[in-house]
Amino acid sequence: MYDGDISSVLVTEEQVREKTAELAQQVAGDYADLVRDGRESDLVLIGVLKGAVMFMTDFARALPIPAQLEFMAVSSYGSSTSSSGVVRILKDLDRDIAGRHVLIVEDIIDSGLTLNWLLGNLQTRSPASLEVVTLLRKPDAVKVDVPVRYVGFDIPNEFVVGYGLDYAERYRDLPYIGTLDPSVYA
Ligand code: XMP
Ligand code: MG
Repeated sequence: MYDGDISSVLVTEEQVREKTAELAQQVAGDYADLVRDGRESDLVLIGVLKGAVMFMTDFARALPIPAQLEFMAVSSYGSSTSSSGVVRILKDLDRDIAGRHVLIVEDIIDSGLTLNWLLGNLQTRSPASLEVVTLLRKPDAVKVDVPVRYVGFDIPNEFVVGYGLDYAERYRDLPYIGTLDPSVYA
């Protein structure tokens, strides 16, 4: 599939699975006491569409405590490979998160601008707590320091695809994370 387009595999399918299980155990341990007493206190996972959809579904299945699944779609003005920090909501939450323990589930933190905006926006809705889990982070690309409690992998500052991440809507369906061969951009 996608012969020749992927120049190297950065994170294998197995590494994704192991890390997801590890993060889920860590989150379950941290939240077990907070979300003990029933439906109204279930953890709320907010997946950011579309990139986080694979991680969101695998993470939710690996998580041994009850969690509710919500999705948001945002779009950052700017080119297809870098964001500007000016964000528009394409799909908002269906529910109120006031008083709820909320965990944002992200695919990747690049400059941090999108997430920084999202944290500010969600904070105004008065959740009981608000944290972030991200599968990937590019430490060398950070423009704004956002507090991210759970990080899967720190990766080099290269454009990556697969496992939800796309280039022009392709490659999201790959089960691993890889770097795109420069010939694809040309
Ligand atoms: P910022 O820069 O605001 O960007 O942290 C976050 C969003 O930009 C997308 N993004 C990528 N998408 N490969 C992708 O397919 C990448 O290497 C990459 N880097 C950033 C992504 O949607 C992320 O949520
Ligand atoms: Mg994203």
